[in-house]
Amino acid sequence: MKPFNHNYFLGYVNEVTPQYIKIHFPSSVLLSKFHFDGVNYAGGNVGNFIVIEGEEYGFLAQLTELKLSDSEKKELTEKAIEHKESDFHPIGKAELLLSFSVFNPEKVEKTVSKYPSIGAKVYSCSDEQIEKYVKEFGKKDADSNVYAILGKLTSNNAECHISLNSLFGRHCAVVGTTGGGKSWTVSKLIESITTQTSNKVILIDATGEYHTLKTKSFILGTDSYFPYQKLSIPDLFYLLRPTGQSQRPILLEAIRSLKIVKIQNNGQNTYKKENQSKLAYLTLYQQNIKTIEDNSCNFDINYLVSQIKEECVYQSGFSDLTKWGGADNKTYDYQTSLISRITDLLNTDIFNQLLGLQTVPKKSDGTNYLSIIDGIDTFLTSTTDSILRISFENIPSSFSAKEIVSNALAAYLLNKARKRDFVENPVVLVIDEAHQFLNKNVRDDFFEMQSLDAFDLIAKECRKYGLFLCLATQMPRDIPIGTLSQMGTFIVHRLINEKDKQSIENAASSANKNALSFLPILGEGEALLIGVDFPMSLLIKVDKPNKPPRSDTPKLKKK
Ligand SMILES: Nc1ncnc2c1ncn2[C@@H]1O[C@H](COP(=O)(O)OP(=O)(O)OP(=O)(O)O)[C@@H](O)[C@H]1O
Ligand SMILES: [Mg+2]
Repeated sequence: MKPFNHNYFLGYVNEVTPQYIKIHFPSSVLLSKFHFDGVNYAGGNVGNFIVIEGEEYGFLAQLTELKLSDSEKKELTEKAIEHKESDFHPIGKAELLLSFSVFNPEKVEKTVSKYPSIGAKVYSCSDEQIEKYVKEFGKKDADSNVYAILGKLTSNNAECHISLNSLFGRHCAVVGTTGGGKSWTVSKLIESITTQTSNKVILIDATGEYHTLKTKSFILGTDSYFPYQKLSIPDLFYLLRPTGQSQRPILLEAIRSLKIVKIQNNGQNTYKKENQSKLAYLTLYQQNIKTIEDNSCNFDINYLVSQIKEECVYQSGFSDLTKWGGADNKTYDYQTSLISRITDLLNTDIFNQLLGLQTVPKKSDGTNYLSIIDGIDTFLTSTTDSILRISFENIPSSFSAKEIVSNALAAYLLNKARKRDFVENPVVLVIDEAHQFLNKNVRDDFFEMQSLDAFDLIAKECRKYGLFLCLATQMPRDIPIGTLSQMGTFIVHRLINEKDKQSIENAASSANKNALSFLPILGEGEALLIGVDFPMSLLIKVDKPNKPPRSDTPKLKKK
């Protein structure tokens, strides 16, 4: 690579400040695009890359402004442009991005304290040179580095080979307004993972638009369900909203008792407590404490209401402390709202279809729905499938069903990650339309906030466990700030709302103001790539994926 050659000379540095440098171009002719020695040079236009020659260090910079001096502005007439072009002497402003040693121009580092000197020569930067730099970004291990070929830089004809480990290693967020190209980019990312690596992708498809991937798929509530036994206790609490003081302890006791009933397996459906000895119960509890306190809902929920009645007894008999006392009607009265919520839940069709509360739901042909948990487990051990699509297209947004089921799925994967199932072979969990699933809170009757936080915990904990999140959303401000600040990479499509821009600016500290100013004017499929591993941000036009999701805007019809 020969970055400095008089054949692609552009001008001279004539002002240096910590924020920018200014360049004097001896002739406007020098600024147009050109080829030299079979290599493309983009010339000097706003957004183009340039290199600056120093004694020890060279610099990569990006042109942000071009203008004529005040005196020359007046001479700008059509005639002058046609005949005496070379008389113009434009002035340019550029932002310094990276520096490199002149003896080893292939290796770049972020500039901090080095600056070019006045009079330093400025050259056009070849597509080839910029391509090489991008390929080095975030490179971890020279031999095993894998790349996503996302597309080309908008300023140059340079292909962007982006290190996949840097893209996903600290989670990745794809953001932008509707129609900006997020879903297409997500498709492209999935394509890169599955063609370049042997890793697996689990895709949560909110609308079913990714059916075009023709991959292993489950449509929740239509051919598969999330068995309620695998819900965590907090998920069940989210559904039932027991009030703090009076209902929570009773509900927890009822769950324990029903788990003991299951362990006993003696034909009883509930555990009778009224005036009974506590000894047998306590012995069983001690022997099976791990199973009982495993935070799962592994009991028969259809007997929960009956068991709650059993729980409403005095804690001990009048004379005999080893026994429970008689029925406590006052406590039972307090359970009325909880009991009606359980009854409602058991009789809501959506939840029966989604969670198999009463029985395993059946398809129209009479066969049972598949358990999504079994589906995930089979997928993770499969040697042929690399993408698992879990579609939420038929889940209504009522009753927070989407949030609860997606959170339960995430919690299941989080537990697997904590058991180090993914350390050897990391899995990427992709969620399009993430604002539908994340940052959900409910208020219970006592206004206590409860949040569904499995995705948040994945973002915070699972980098080291090899479970990587890739979120796509229209509304970054709707993603919990804790989750957003864990994202190492941002692919930002067109973004107009100030608050959204602000949340990206806050979360991606490495983004420079200049780059962010492009966000409102990006076209379809154009995006700004910002990441902790990338020493500078890149404006990319993402290539069309091989199997784009079905998301085109329906057209109004001519009469
Ligand atoms: N990389 C691209 N190249 C060419 N066209 C693109 C590209 N990305 C997106 N488009 C066009 O933009 C349309 C919308 O893209 P996409 O569905 O990815 O947007 P989105 O950001 O996911 O929108 P929404 O938030 O509504 O889901 C696509 O149907 C396609 O026509
Ligand atoms: Mg989309």
